[in-house]
Amino acid sequence: MRNDPAVKLIDSKGLRVDGRRLDELRPIKMEVGILDKANGSAYIEHGKNKILAAVYGPREAHPKHIALADRAVVRCRYHMAPFSVDERKSPAPSRRELELSKVIRESLEPAIMSEYFPRATIDIFIEVLQADAGTRCAGITAASLALADAGIPMRELVAACAAGKIEGKVILDLSDIEDKKGEADLPVALLPKSNVISLIQMDGSLSDEEFRQALDLSTDACRKIYEMQREALKLKYHIVRDGTEDKEEMAEVKA
Ligand code: CDP
Repeated sequence: MRNDPAVKLIDSKGLRVDGRRLDELRPIKMEVGILDKANGSAYIEHGKNKILAAVYGPREAHPKHIALADRAVVRCRYHMAPFSVDERKSPAPSRRELELSKVIRESLEPAIMSEYFPRATIDIFIEVLQADAGTRCAGITAASLALADAGIPMRELVAACAAGKIEGKVILDLSDIEDKKGEADLPVALLPKSNVISLIQMDGSLSDEEFRQALDLSTDACRKIYEMQREALKLKYHIVRDGTEDKEEMAEVKA
């Protein structure tokens, strides 16, 4: 992270590089149940991020020695496609992808009723097709929908969004340039009904006051995203009920 004075991230009208206000989300689109082979799936566009999530399970644990007697083992793989970023990314798992796989799994686990499925596994795959900052958050939002689509009992959905700081101002939902040139990034995942934060990380530095502001911005955004998730799920089940084959519009809500 660095504050590069050569790059102006906020203009004289207080608008950001992509024209957003400081507290404005990027446009978000979600669709549930788009893959036939997985038990559950979802696709999200969050700004320029394009991310697929697929879920398999609950299914018998394999290899058997990983099984737990009292609950399912939840596994998660976050992966970026080689063409998802400006510089070709090696398809081999990087340290960053291993870390993100772990924190995404931990952010979803409190919502999954894994105790119903002892000796089973639930596998979550997140494929980033195009990245523009905030992929862990958009990945969590999509994976939560894919889990619900797989029929896995959940206490509630998990929604995620980052806040941060650029040019001394606290902002919501950083884009790639803001992430790279800005001063701080605070990804947050929220279980909105119980008000439990299941992910909070920080890159850069914020004062106590800025931290509080950023947390308020990101949790408010998570609540908006949660409403979009509910709409996306409703749309899927509306299509199933009607038996309609037509592809309806993706559940799209712009903040
Ligand atoms: O994506 P997220 O903000 O959750 O994670 P990050 O590690 O803070 O990465 C921020 C952004 O950097 C990614 O979303 C990509 O746009 C970009 N990135 C990249 O260009 N090349 C990589 N190998 C990794 C990340």
